[in-house]
Amino acid sequence: MLTEAIQYAATSLVTPKQFRPFIRSSVSLWSRAGRCAKDWAAHEESCKAFIRETIAGMKQRRTAVVLGSGLLRDVPIEDLSAKFDTVVLVDLVHLASVRMRLKAGRFKNVRLVSRDLSGFDDAVTAKVPEPLSFLRQVPYLDLVVSANILSQIGVGSKRRLDAGRNPARDDILQTVVRAHLDGLSALPCRTALITDTAYRVTDRGGQVLEEADLLCGVPAPVAKRAWTWPVAPYGELGKDYQAVHDVIAL
Ligand SMILES: C[S@@+](CC[C@H](N)C(=O)[O-])C[C@H]1O[C@@H](n2cnc3c(N)ncnc32)[C@H](O)[C@@H]1O
Repeated sequence: MLTEAIQYAATSLVTPKQFRPFIRSSVSLWSRAGRCAKDWAAHEESCKAFIRETIAGMKQRRTAVVLGSGLLRDVPIEDLSAKFDTVVLVDLVHLASVRMRLKAGRFKNVRLVSRDLSGFDDAVTAKVPEPLSFLRQVPYLDLVVSANILSQIGVGSKRRLDAGRNPARDDILQTVVRAHLDGLSALPCRTALITDTAYRVTDRGGQVLEEADLLCGVPAPVAKRAWTWPVAPYGELGKDYQAVHDVIAL
């Protein structure tokens, strides 16, 4: 509790005002990631391996952008920093502990950007969202990694819509998910998309108690790799059930 409070307070000091409401969920993700470190390790390693594999064959490595960089748990920041001239990390929030880690590691070519990548505000006013259009302004862009953010764009947008009971809810959710996928496909550089697509809550007998699509009805793109991620292992939500997410990478 105390470390969470310190993390919260220290992050508030360095986070622009409009992004401070998101610090709480970043701190709670950080706490859960700490508790579930052993169970998340294989997933995190698969993500890092996929990103390393993506950059291995690249001839030009000038600027890399990571969308949803967050806690930097599933992003091989050492490799990216060593192999690219500049690395730009984009998220709603970068916690104080992440900033300290970057400072301690002397990642001098790494920049942090606070930004809402959802396109939600345009989607609710029936405008075509282009949440990744800012990438067109990034000089010498050679790589964009979407690092486990897409499902969270859907989850965050759902939360905001459920508070207001918008009748166009499902269309808006599909719009923001599609905007991210279309934005990535339109980029003139190498891209890597890693996202969870669905989850299941099961009991110890393997019976499915609850399941849901995390891409809000938008078909998942064809995966190059796929694995599962025990986001809430036994004991996290309840002692007799677990929540497992399906993850794809392409
Ligand atoms: C599952 S975490 C990703 C973890 C991260 N890749 C890592 O290595 O630790 C999802 C991340 O997406 C970010 N996120 C969620 N919605 C966002 C939005 N609309 N714009 C920008 N970032 C967002 C969250 O702040 C969080 O850091």
